[in-house]
Amino acid sequence: MRFDIFTLFPEVFPSYLDASILHRAREMGHLQVNVHNIREWATDKHQVTDEPPYGGGGGMVMKPEPIFAAVEDVLGRPPVCPVILLTPQGEPLNQTRAAALAEHPHLALIAGHYEGVDERVREHLVSEELSIGDYVLTGGELPALVLIDVLTRLIPGVLGDPQAAANDSHASGLLEYPHYTRPESFRGWQVPEILRSGHHARIERWRRNQALKRTRERRPDLLEDLDLTQEDREFLDSLERNDQSG
Ligand code: ADE
Repeated sequence: MRFDIFTLFPEVFPSYLDASILHRAREMGHLQVNVHNIREWATDKHQVTDEPPYGGGGGMVMKPEPIFAAVEDVLGRPPVCPVILLTPQGEPLNQTRAAALAEHPHLALIAGHYEGVDERVREHLVSEELSIGDYVLTGGELPALVLIDVLTRLIPGVLGDPQAAANDSHASGLLEYPHYTRPESFRGWQVPEILRSGHHARIERWRRNQALKRTRERRPDLLEDLDLTQEDREFLDSLERNDQSG
């Protein structure tokens, strides 16, 4: 998968892209990331990329010309791939949306800054606006990295274990079950007996129940859209009865 990032702060990207799984994905040729400094396409002497808003009010707005010039220079006019603007006003990013975006072999990402970008960029260049959560960051650089990270994990061959992405929290619609590794006893806290039983079917059921329990406690909203089995429902009902008697 290829990404072209357009940003005023290209220096923030390399350290994250050079570590861990993203690094390996790039080495293996699964992931290509090109970072472009929008300022290089500013044509005036001072390479201005932002100006005060028409109509007054505080803050600065990113000018349209350098953004259009940068994106069209690199990706053509019209651009050869979808152009995503990272902004708190965008559609929320979740695992379902990530899975749909992962179908694209090539995406352009614009990291917005200051008070925002000139509306003509949204209207005439951008195909999709994405938010990574209901909070406001200083810019779209971290959200761009978040998006690249989420999508890279979904590229076939990137995670060593092909089951890993399928087991993730959210992939099944549930939060993940608890994990344990050695030692068996740490400060007197034991690994649950069932995980050491070697009984695979029972371990699977225990994990499924733990995922249901955790989701019910932390994110009951997620349970609403799920196709649950009869066994799942019986387990959730037993928790309900427990709550009522407790
Ligand atoms: N830019 C600033 N805050 C953001 C957010 N929450 N999501 C995406 N882009 C942003």
